[in-house]
Amino acid sequence: MSYENILVETQGKVALIRLNRPKALNALNDALMGELGEALLAFEADEQIGCIVITGSEKAFAAGADILGMASLNFIDVHKGEFITRNWETIRRIRKPVIAAVAGFALGGGCELAMMCDFIIAADTAKFGQPEVKLGIVPGAGGTQRLPRAVSKAKAMDMCLTGRMMDAVEAERAGLVSRIVPADKLLEEAMTAAGNIADLSLPVVMMIKDSVNRAYESTLAEGIKYERGQFYSCFALEDQKEGMKAFIEKRPANFKNA
Ligand code: CAA
Repeated sequence: MSYENILVETQGKVALIRLNRPKALNALNDALMGELGEALLAFEADEQIGCIVITGSEKAFAAGADILGMASLNFIDVHKGEFITRNWETIRRIRKPVIAAVAGFALGGGCELAMMCDFIIAADTAKFGQPEVKLGIVPGAGGTQRLPRAVSKAKAMDMCLTGRMMDAVEAERAGLVSRIVPADKLLEEAMTAAGNIADLSLPVVMMIKDSVNRAYESTLAEGIKYERGQFYSCFALEDQKEGMKAFIEKRPANFKNA
């Protein structure tokens, strides 16, 4: 399938999606988000793929929702048409792991998109922020909800109320990103991490993703109960037999996703 606003490729069991509107610093317009959703659904359905990486350019992961497309809209336009956020929810339907590899600006919707991924690997050039307040709007794709869950109320309030940016070091210290790497190693690191995940048992990986996400949407007791069910289910898999047998035989496991 060919796209105009993203570039897609596969490397072994890993799918790579590059946001590609360089002149607008990958500003996320309707066309780009539509294509991103289509590509994600296609890779979700592709049995060869075990993990997905989303990245941008050296200068920007994405500088937010497209301000030019929003500037003249009124309340009815955005409310009735679910403008901007209409096709932003597709990523939540993806059960395979999705890694954000972020270099440069991840602002507004760009930061929100990165937070919708399962974890963020940041280049040392990465800059995160929710600058919507400076445009006279509130973050519209989860910034006020996912950021406090990732970095604490104090830091999220600071970011959303002042609109300032935080660099990669601050973002890692705050818990927004899982690791920082030199910019020229970003893609290699993200693809290696994705490749390692893709070599594991996909049903188990999907259960882990589902279970960790549960932690944000349930009480501790409900979450523990949910995890217990997932844990017990693993024992119905051939991959559990293979994983433990391989450990005992001191050899790498050969998972069959079964
Ligand atoms: N939408 C549309 N175009 C954008 C854009 C955006 N979010 N961000 C950057 N661009 C465009 C600029 O207009 C500029 O285009 P021209 O060359 O045609 O003028 C081009 O990208 C390069 O940008 P700059 O010249 O501004 O580059 P810079 O290096 O000087 O500054 C920046 C970089 C600090 C990221 C700056 O571009 C900026 O502040 N961008 C806007 C960031 C922002 O406010 N994002 C939030 C958007 S609202 C949102 O996301 C809502 C939501 O929650 C869903």
